[in-house]
Amino acid sequence: MRLLTGIQPSGDLHIGNYFGSIRAMVEAQQEHDVFAFIANYHAMTTVHDGKRLSTLTLQAAMDFLALGIDPEKSTFWVQSDVDEVLELYWALSSFTPMGLLERAHSYKDKVAKGIAANHSLFSYPVLMAADILLFESDIVPVGKDQIQHVEIARDIAIRFNNAYGEILHLPEFRVDDNVATVPGIDGQKMSKSYGNTINIFGEEKQQLKTIKKIVTEAVPLEEPKEWKECNVYNLAKLFLDDEGCKALQARYERGGEGHGHFKLYLAELIWEYFRPYREKRAYFEAHQDEVRDILKAGAVKAREAARTITDKVRSVTGVAY
Ligand code: ADP
Ligand code: TRP
Repeated sequence: MRLLTGIQPSGDLHIGNYFGSIRAMVEAQQEHDVFAFIANYHAMTTVHDGKRLSTLTLQAAMDFLALGIDPEKSTFWVQSDVDEVLELYWALSSFTPMGLLERAHSYKDKVAKGIAANHSLFSYPVLMAADILLFESDIVPVGKDQIQHVEIARDIAIRFNNAYGEILHLPEFRVDDNVATVPGIDGQKMSKSYGNTINIFGEEKQQLKTIKKIVTEAVPLEEPKEWKECNVYNLAKLFLDDEGCKALQARYERGGEGHGHFKLYLAELIWEYFRPYREKRAYFEAHQDEVRDILKAGAVKAREAARTITDKVRSVTGVAY
């Protein structure tokens, strides 16, 4: 079973990203053929500062390698290192009705937010279809906002196959409903766009400062406290087993400790949990040539897989003569 995922290089990862998607992707490597890439062409639709895009791309690669993407088990590359994706993108464009793209929520949402409506923003689902179809993906794990894009990929593939025969493999999307939404420091969903995140690779002092800002109930120190709805508890439980959760609940119920104490405990839990990842991240930061080599080797593997499809596409469409 081939599982494909594209990750936009969009800056600091937070613990919502980790528990909501990265951890599952890392675990999937044990039993699936994972194809994962940094979607830098997608990021180009909104990031128009070249230096920034290249920095973000390398950072994203280091983040994912540190968090457990294993280039021995999986195929891991940067989108722009596989030229074939743009070739397929063009071939698919002829099978993409304008109406299909006009109905895309993400385009409408971005324009409603005031992002200038350029062509790449509009045709982005066709590029995403090329990403998916180029590698004969079976499953594409996505958040709810990306379901429509996988449906568009299927729709385009069906139209293409109707014209040329069964060339493209139809993918399925997978939404993991079991993943709980990780709350941010204000109790809303943790998200970059709400400015309420706790970053995975933040600095210790900054991390503590952020954690101290977590919104909690005002209850006198000596009184028992409510844990079920407490933002600090709900974050801490991500890092605790059953026994750890029970022990923390008991501390809440006993009274005598304030939310400040629980926040310090949470800060420690987060810091310790990510310690090995942080060390690996620091290693890659100091050995960026090694990271580039890993990415180049990943691209070689990815291109080999991609050519199976582009060779067929060139032949059936008649561009090979
Ligand atoms: P953000 O909302 O910070 O911009 P993204 O939309 O880039 O995050 O999300 C990247 C991945 O992380 C997606 O798969 C998404 O479902 C997951 N994710 C993001 N925030 C959370 C959260 N608070 N809880 C669970 N999963 C999350
Ligand atoms: N559009 C996705 C996002 O914004 C990233 C992405 C690009 C992707 N190509 C993909 C995801 C192919 C899955 C499959 O999150």
